[in-house]
Amino acid sequence: MGRWVDVCATTEVDEEDLISVEFEGHDYAIYHDEDGEFFATDAHCTHEKVNLCDGFVEGEIIECPKHNGRFNFKTGEGLGSPVCIDLKTYPCKVENERVFIELVEV
Ligand code: FES
Repeated sequence: MGRWVDVCATTEVDEEDLISVEFEGHDYAIYHDEDGEFFATDAHCTHEKVNLCDGFVEGEIIECPKHNGRFNFKTGEGLGSPVCIDLKTYPCKVENERVFIELVEV
């Protein structure tokens, strides 16, 4: 079981958009989908480590700003070339207008 970490306010992430947040030296991407739900992944593309926060959200897809690699941000699944490694996802919840992600110590 991991620990829940407060990463941002719900108002910081527009619908159909994402932001990058840093916590203890690691960057996480926080997504706000068109249905008002929040999701979290690693912030860096698994192809060449570009931060995805400048990418484009469409439905449940994040498109990397560098080579247009695409991931499903709800499952982390990479959706074809040039991406061949899935994106790590994190459990995410909202309490009192704050977004929390669950981090598991390894
Ligand atoms: S760096 Fe993201 S697709 Fe290449």
